Amino acid sequence: MSYDFDKVIERRNTNCEKWDAMGEDVLPMWVADMDFEVLPEILEAVKKRAGHAVYGYTRFSDKYYDAVISWVKRRHNWNIKKEWIVYSPGIVTGLNLIVKALNQVGDKIIIQTPVYYPFFRAIENNGFRVLRNPLKFENGKYKMDFEDLEKKLKDKRVKTLILCSPHNPVGRVWTKEELKKLGDLCLENGVTVVSDEIHSDIIYKENEHTTFGAISKDFENNSIVCISASKTFNLAGLRTSSLIIPNKELRRKVINVIESIGNAEPNAFSECASVAAYNHGEQWLSELMDYLKENLNFMKKYISENMPYVKVIEPEGTYLAWLDFSALKMDPRELHEFILKKAKVWLDEGYIFGDEGNGFERINLACPRSILKEGLERINKAIKQSKE
Ligand SMILES: Cc1ncc(COP(=O)(O)O)c(C=O)c1O
Repeated sequence: MSYDFDKVIERRNTNCEKWDAMGEDVLPMWVADMDFEVLPEILEAVKKRAGHAVYGYTRFSDKYYDAVISWVKRRHNWNIKKEWIVYSPGIVTGLNLIVKALNQVGDKIIIQTPVYYPFFRAIENNGFRVLRNPLKFENGKYKMDFEDLEKKLKDKRVKTLILCSPHNPVGRVWTKEELKKLGDLCLENGVTVVSDEIHSDIIYKENEHTTFGAISKDFENNSIVCISASKTFNLAGLRTSSLIIPNKELRRKVINVIESIGNAEPNAFSECASVAAYNHGEQWLSELMDYLKENLNFMKKYISENMPYVKVIEPEGTYLAWLDFSALKMDPRELHEFILKKAKVWLDEGYIFGDEGNGFERINLACPRSILKEGLERINKAIKQSKE
């Protein structure tokens, strides 16, 4: 291993969303960014850019587009074109703009709950309605409910489905067959698929991510695929993502909304960071995945030896794990408060991902193993004490 993922980096007092939002006695394992240093080439590129001390309006050069196009081809076997790539600062921003572009007030948008909570906000804050197609949880595994989906797609107020692929928080890497079935149903019913693939590079070895747009020309034409180097390479604070919109008409609609809020220019550090990540990051990413897998195995072993009543929903992708605490028989809010206030560990509340998340909490595994160990020990100790 040539990169040091065990290194603990002090992140407090850096205006860090994850570490500075709560008291110093709380260990944060919630929001999805990583406690690891970036790839050295990214740091070098940002330093070099910072050294040229003029930070005026910025545009992407062909280097940026080539890096994105090449990454998507190399890693996901999809040939995309420069003009399909639309800049958005973040994917959440992008989703807010996309739903506005594709819907009229009162329309319903399908999401597969439990799911990343900003999906609800992107829909509801813009005057649209959430239509849930809850995942089925069978024998410890989450699956799509196609029967329910087929019914919901028939609703005339549905024009958009937001797909989380891989799925946060349940960690499923959808198979090509599952995606094909979903995509065919959407096509039959004239519903556009917005595929949030921000986690698509964080895939554990035995699984394979299928990018939605690459499945067929029809799917390519009926979808918007959202990607970013931010999750993969820990660049969330640089605010850069790509909305891939092959369909010209859809693209025009989205660009119109982007222009309506004057949000067309990237920040001065995002190009060099993304280019360095995409062009030099493969070895780092491969070692990161090995480290995350070891963290996952460490957690599974710790839980089975010390807290066997907690069930780990094994993720196929993402550095997040969905933990089932329902055996503790606590009210969802009480459970979260207990872990936060008694164990002093900040996980993400299961219930914010939808009612289907009641009894669950989401943990972020992208941290040095010593931090993961500390977090698990704190939770174990608090539960043991509460039972005494
Ligand atoms: C599914 C999903 N989409 C989007 C985001 C956030 O993306 P951004 O920071 O680009 O808005 C996250 C972050 O956790 C996520 O899990």
